[in-house]
Amino acid sequence: MILEARRVSYSYKSQKGKLILDNVSYCFECGKMYALLGASGSGKTTFLSLLAGLDSPVKGEICYNGKPVIPKELAEYRRHHISLVFQSYNLIDYLTPIENVKLGGSRNPEALLNRIGIGKELWKRNVLQLSGGQQQRVAIARALASDAKIVLADEPTGNLDEATAWDVIDLLKRIAHEENKCVIVVTHSKELAGEADSIIRIGG
Ligand SMILES: Nc1ncnc2c1ncn2[C@@H]1O[C@H](COP(=O)(O)OP(=O)(O)O)[C@@H](O)[C@H]1O
Ligand SMILES: [Mg+2]
Repeated sequence: MILEARRVSYSYKSQKGKLILDNVSYCFECGKMYALLGASGSGKTTFLSLLAGLDSPVKGEICYNGKPVIPKELAEYRRHHISLVFQSYNLIDYLTPIENVKLGGSRNPEALLNRIGIGKELWKRNVLQLSGGQQQRVAIARALASDAKIVLADEPTGNLDEATAWDVIDLLKRIAHEENKCVIVVTHSKELAGEADSIIRIGG
């Protein structure tokens, strides 16, 4: 088990006392894709942010390799162990796919882009000249450019048409299985969540 949420509770300071997450416990392993499923506003992004080390739980702890991640180690934890993929891709507009992937880490960008199905003819275009599905693939390649074992994706298919969404989910699953990464994907689609090795329901 690489990642664990132990009895995690969370509330935003601005909403004093209102628990977004209440005593949530889950274990995550490498080589598996997990789907975090829940209605809008149920706390999926909040939970992912805690797993990513962007904030600390109010109660309970996030453990990496069996050890609690303490607040003063959060930046270090994020830098070495976490890769993020967002709904809106978050690529740098004025750079090419190759340049964007290089920002994610030191692994060979050409090999990574080949791996995720972005052919050579697209490597040196501006990323804005790619389709949404292609841009999301580049964002996934960027997430794979580091040696981080944990890949966290927040509604990575939210801006994609249905066929492309399935492609992206299949790609993330392949990455979990073939690269032995721990992939955690937020979605509100039950159908897409069905592709995961394990489904976690947030908010009941
Ligand atoms: N920065 C914030 N400050 C205060 N409340 C927030 C903040 N972010 C989210 N919330 C609230 O926390 C709840 C869960 O939000 P979120 O984790 O974004 O849900 P989801 O990703 O499942 O849609 C919602 O009620 C939302 O309004
Ligand atoms: Mg969200």
